[in-house]
Amino acid sequence: MEVIHLSVECFPVAKVGGLADVVGALPKYQRKIGIDARVVIPWFDRPFVKAHLFEIVGTGSFSQGSEELHYEVHKEKNDTLGFPLFLIKIPGKLDREEVYCYPDEAEQWIAFQHAFLHWIQNSGIHPSIIHCHDHHVGLIAFLLQHGTEFRSLVDIKTIFTVHNGQYQGWMNWNKGILLPPFDTWKWGLLDWDGLINPLATAIKCSDAYTTVSEGYLNELFIEANGLQGLFNAESAKGYGIVNGIDTAYWNPQIDTLIEKKYNKITVQKGKEENKQILCEKYNLSSDLPLLSFIGRFAKEKGADLLSEIFVKLFSVRENISIFILGSGDEEIQNKLKELELKFEGKLSLFFGYDEILAHQVYAASDMLLMPSRVEPCGLNQLYALKYGTIPIVRAIGGLRDTVVDVADGGYGFVFDKLNADDAVEAILRSLDIYSNLKIWKGIRKKAMHLDFSWDRSAQKYVELYNQLLK
Ligand code: GLC
Repeated sequence: MEVIHLSVECFPVAKVGGLADVVGALPKYQRKIGIDARVVIPWFDRPFVKAHLFEIVGTGSFSQGSEELHYEVHKEKNDTLGFPLFLIKIPGKLDREEVYCYPDEAEQWIAFQHAFLHWIQNSGIHPSIIHCHDHHVGLIAFLLQHGTEFRSLVDIKTIFTVHNGQYQGWMNWNKGILLPPFDTWKWGLLDWDGLINPLATAIKCSDAYTTVSEGYLNELFIEANGLQGLFNAESAKGYGIVNGIDTAYWNPQIDTLIEKKYNKITVQKGKEENKQILCEKYNLSSDLPLLSFIGRFAKEKGADLLSEIFVKLFSVRENISIFILGSGDEEIQNKLKELELKFEGKLSLFFGYDEILAHQVYAASDMLLMPSRVEPCGLNQLYALKYGTIPIVRAIGGLRDTVVDVADGGYGFVFDKLNADDAVEAILRSLDIYSNLKIWKGIRKKAMHLDFSWDRSAQKYVELYNQLLK
């Protein structure tokens, strides 16, 4: 079975968030179970592309409104990622450094989808399934069914995975003329509340849609930034499949990015050593429990609550070290900077996106805080568990699905309501238990024995593909 994954992020070529991790891992695990999975993303002017060999396997042109666009499909020569990777380059549109935030984003993603369909139609590539990820490629299912240029592709099945339903790719209808020609009387499939809404279109037109956890699917039925009614109406083709992690890359036993490797048996010593190195570098005490936050400074991640949480925490408990790794909203960043000055030696920050440091922080930390407002799946708690780092999470979306509280015989600390007091209470509970090393070791052992690798979920997607092809 040939499956093409279509996305605008893929680790390690272009990563902004968890979407990249999923698209960079799932196909590899699908290939292990006999699926011919491939990945197609836009071309980016980034280090991975410069450092690897590519060959051009397709070219073509099409018009976007009054503009004539030319594309090239570049295939990575040596399949170093464990799956065939294709990058679509379009001078002036898909040839940039950043993934997001350009003013002509709508034109970019329309061009990407148009070029992709043009290429497979003209080169006779005919996958059984096209698996689309997030709204940037939300128009594919519609164009397969109603694009007048792509009639020979109409039997290809489509799956759409919602990694984040908050962003929907809204476009004003004046962008309609930029789309490849389609059966005009079907325009209603593109529309939601007077705008072209690629996420809504994908939910209407795909053969099935999935969310990255079951909990998130149920949440979307209630609140989906205006699309809750649609998710409900199409619920018969909706499935929740929780993400996995790539244990070839996220695994303290073989991780070459951390200072000291360790396993389930050597975790106590391993963590102590990693913690000592990190704390020394960032001016923290390694004799205290180390609590970390890793992630984007976005409201979705609850990052706006961090300052209040830590001020309240320090007012009742002094004996803890805190490390924050992330970037994003400037207001949040400035507040955290103030905090770092105020609590010098107790709280340290690293602003930016640093994949290597992230591995080191998981290896060094005792606990990881995730006070998310919205969390479709969340991968950080899964990485944390693999490294014996105990997650402290808000009960939402995928966090609720994957973290069981110590009070219920589990391996984490879960709080219900999104506010600083409840988060602090959960942190205090973890500190109390941490002070009893024997119990803490038991919890950590449980965490490290869990299996959140992709094997199981990759299989679930394959079962869904088979169901659609029946
Ligand atoms: C998005 C979601 C996150 C999820 C990731 C991968 O980034 O916010 O919860 O884990 O996609 O599916």
